[in-house]
Amino acid sequence: MNNFNFCSPTYFAFGRGTESRAGELCVKYGAGRVLIVYGGGSAVRSGLLARVKERLDEARLWHTDLAGIKPNPTDDRVYEGIDVCRRERIDFILAVGGGSVIDTAKGIAAGAVYDGDFWDFYSGKAVPRSALPVGVVLTIPAAGSEGSGNTVITKVDGLHKISIRTEEVLRPRFAIMDPELTFTLPPFQTACGIADMMAHIMERYFSNTPGVEVSDRLCESVLTTIIGQAPIVMRSPDDYDARANIMWCGMIAHNGTCGVGREEDWSSHALEHEVSAVYDVAHGAGLAVIFPAWLTWMASHNPHKVAQFAGRVFGVEQLASPEATALEGVARLKAFFRSIGLPVTFAALGVANPDIDLLVRKLVEDKGQPIGNYVRLTPQDCREIYLLGCGD
Ligand code: NZQ
Ligand code: ZN
Repeated sequence: MNNFNFCSPTYFAFGRGTESRAGELCVKYGAGRVLIVYGGGSAVRSGLLARVKERLDEARLWHTDLAGIKPNPTDDRVYEGIDVCRRERIDFILAVGGGSVIDTAKGIAAGAVYDGDFWDFYSGKAVPRSALPVGVVLTIPAAGSEGSGNTVITKVDGLHKISIRTEEVLRPRFAIMDPELTFTLPPFQTACGIADMMAHIMERYFSNTPGVEVSDRLCESVLTTIIGQAPIVMRSPDDYDARANIMWCGMIAHNGTCGVGREEDWSSHALEHEVSAVYDVAHGAGLAVIFPAWLTWMASHNPHKVAQFAGRVFGVEQLASPEATALEGVARLKAFFRSIGLPVTFAALGVANPDIDLLVRKLVEDKGQPIGNYVRLTPQDCREIYLLGCGD
């Protein structure tokens, strides 16, 4: 196991009725003037936004809105939010929504206190050293941004989708996680969230670092929990306990606990971010295509951990070779994704003929080369993985 530092200072308020604590928690974490950031309408339709505003009014907090953040959020909305923060002397940002809303809030939070262009953080020119505090009312378990120091934004000019990770600066001060808020999720969004949280665990699981039994076993148990709870939430969207288990799994998957002491991979995310940047597909659906393709490629290049995953997560018997065991595990992962309505090929994703030259070129531009750690991938390897996503 490698040395590590781990600091996860987010306060989590989890369970029924916790949305009513929005005002109290904003005050606790220093709010006076709040920017509420939210998405395309689900929080308005469900009445959540109005209830949150009531709680802020009761706590005598001044507030204003930044509405209409879209999935795969873009830099233009971050610039807009930074302007509002400066003009209105905002001292706290409250994200009401999922990863797209939270990531926009984090970009605004870092940019509002920075003299230069906030994109410097995403292009690698600068590192965020401070930020306005961010609080979250989570409405979809998926990206894990409620507990992570990550933010992912797409630059409209050139469609560059870039992820950055800070250990502490951008972790939310608090996250309200009320599973009942997820009852309204459409089945496809629920399934996309499930694929994304599984991918966050797998990016950490597929590692060559020896002596990491505790995080291996943690990863496996969270994965098997998700696989067990997924059919329940798909069948019964208002099953509180299943929604609650999925919601907490999404947080554990990405707050860093599963990755401590080990080298992480993240090449499937790099490969997918180009797909969702260019074709504007849901990130989780993109991962349901890319991750099995990546695993198939790994089965013939570095099968040992994929075979372990097949055995411990999907109960595959050890077959004649680690490669055969690994491939059976990939087949079961694909069958699981299909069973919850996710695509596992580009065609099923709605991208009949992906422009693989473009995807690889952008990948090299945005992420450099090689990428990943489990096997260091060259552009040619990445091309082969994209091609595997075109198969069945
Ligand atoms: O916009 P509204 O109307 O709210 O609808 C949203 C959106 O269409 C809907 N939704 C959310 N909560 C709902 C609901 N619909 C009904 N009832 C509810 N309770 O769901 C749709 C997707 O929302 P979005 O925020 O985009 O989902 P997600 O949480 O999956 O976030 C995806 C974004 O996060 C990035 C992805 O790349 C993508 O841009 N990621 C962020 C990460 C991070 N910050 O740590 C890590 C991830 O790997 C990921 O890359
Ligand atoms: Zn993800």
